Amino acid sequence: MKTILVTGGLGYIGSHTVVELLEKGNEVIIVDNLLNSCVEVINRITKITGKTPTFYEINCCDLPAFEEVFKLHKIDYIIHFAGLKAVGESVRKPLEYYNNNINSTINILYLMKKYSVKNLIFSSSATVYGKPKRLPFYEADKLGSATNPYGHTKVINERIIKDFCKANEGFKAILLRYFNPIGAHKSGLIGEDPNDIPNNLMPFITQVAIGKLKELKIFGNDYNTIDGTGVRDYIHVVDLALGHIAALKKFDDDFSYTIYNLGTGEGSSVLQIVSAFEQVSGIKIPFVIIDRRPGDIDASYSNCDKAKEELDWEAKYNIIDMCKDAWNWQTKNPNGYRG
Ligand code: NAD
Ligand code: UFG
Repeated sequence: MKTILVTGGLGYIGSHTVVELLEKGNEVIIVDNLLNSCVEVINRITKITGKTPTFYEINCCDLPAFEEVFKLHKIDYIIHFAGLKAVGESVRKPLEYYNNNINSTINILYLMKKYSVKNLIFSSSATVYGKPKRLPFYEADKLGSATNPYGHTKVINERIIKDFCKANEGFKAILLRYFNPIGAHKSGLIGEDPNDIPNNLMPFITQVAIGKLKELKIFGNDYNTIDGTGVRDYIHVVDLALGHIAALKKFDDDFSYTIYNLGTGEGSSVLQIVSAFEQVSGIKIPFVIIDRRPGDIDASYSNCDKAKEELDWEAKYNIIDMCKDAWNWQTKNPNGYRG
């Protein structure tokens, strides 16, 4: 049994990963300050797995409080999900984003060194690739220029982590670049629970379907794609969670830092997602086409051969599964974790 510290473990991707970690017999310690989550998630995790993770309500930027966790537990691995993630909000509140997303990582690295915790998995994003020169994106591609402070924090964090690993022999980091996670756990007990009006496509669609929002606003239909709407590489959040489980095994190898794309390798347009959702739910999604959203790109999808070859991982779920599970979560929890 390994002890794994999961920062941001009550959030969308973190909670799904905690479930998989517990089901594989690991001990899980969650540090989350509930900035974008709630404690009810722990009850849901317990319902699914029959196990309750240890939870500390701590801000990773609060070094003295965070250090107590390292004093109390002998940690084998850290998975660092904690961070702010709303692109638009990051443009309005850049300092909050730089402060939260970068200082939390620096604190983790400092504590890893002090307490000799050698292994880190970091949640990076496809956003680090910027505007594509060609597709799919490969891990070896030159990083583009991110178009917003959120994206910059991912690029800067990747840099900081690489520099730390180069300077400190024996410390290892795996940077996972997620594409677009959607869907929810099969049980319908955990899922994505946006605080306000959703920024992302799938929660917006499910909220239209359940009647909370009137219509979907599609951001442009004049992109250079199959039907003019934006194309993304959607990946089931459970596949993404399993990518972390596969990555943990990699720490047995000798390396300093390494990067993996986690996606399906296939792009779907907004209209294709709407159509798949309608097929699954039997509900027509009314939509209007409006202007492009600033910063959006035509298309983004991954090449995931490296994860397949080196981690023996590949995504198993398709778009229909993703829509089914997102809809199951939404219908069972019309108001998210608030009942
Ligand atoms: P989320 O907001 O659901 O989860 C993040 C969790 O971190 C929340 O529970 C929040 O309360 C917590 N948190 C934030 N700042 C904290 C701090 N300083 N100390 C302690 N806890 C803190 O987001 P998510 O979708 O689960 O994303 C997880 C990670 O994956 C993030 O780093 C995000 O940037 C990255 N990512 C997400 C996506 C996506 O589309 N969801 C895509 C690429 C990368
Ligand atoms: N879209 C709409 N209407 C909406 C929401 C989205 O038309 O209401 C379109 C977008 O224009 C885009 C596609 O749906 O073409 C997907 O948009 P999302 O907002 O769901 O996802 P993004 O690809 O813009 O960004 C997400 C995360 C980022 C992350 C990136 C890559 O929000 O944080 O995936 O992982 F960096």
